Amino acid sequence: MNNKELVRAAFEAMKNAYAPYSGYKVGAALLTQSGRVFTGCNIENAAYSPSVCAERTAFFKAVSEGETQFEKIAVCGGKDGEPDDYFYPCGTCRQVMAEFCNGDFAVVTAKSPDDFKESTLGEMLPFAFTKDKIDK
Ligand code: THU
Repeated sequence: MNNKELVRAAFEAMKNAYAPYSGYKVGAALLTQSGRVFTGCNIENAAYSPSVCAERTAFFKAVSEGETQFEKIAVCGGKDGEPDDYFYPCGTCRQVMAEFCNGDFAVVTAKSPDDFKESTLGEMLPFAFTKDKIDK
């Protein structure tokens, strides 16, 4: 699956965002190395802290179905589901990505279905704290 197709899946997922408190809708589409796509949206909560980001929704869906090898993720977001800039994942989501992915994991940040660019997890989370520090 190419970046454009993955970005389109992220935009579709953004439609399902449950964001009644912030009004900020986020979508993600995660491609596994086996070729499956897991989408995610942010899901907010009246108690605020139980809210979860779109990227983690996608990762947790995938891992819960036995997938732990990932190729890339596309993300988009904006107020009322209307992005006005490239969307970059929050620090917590970057940390979850770093649990399963190397620095070369591709993060496709989208501004629109036709306007997106690719970064790597290593660029976005240098000096990550990862499981190899614990496994020693
Ligand atoms: N959000 C995400 O879904 N992903 C991120 O990487 C950053 C923020 C969500 C959380 C919350 O529902 C809304 O965006 C505003 O912070």
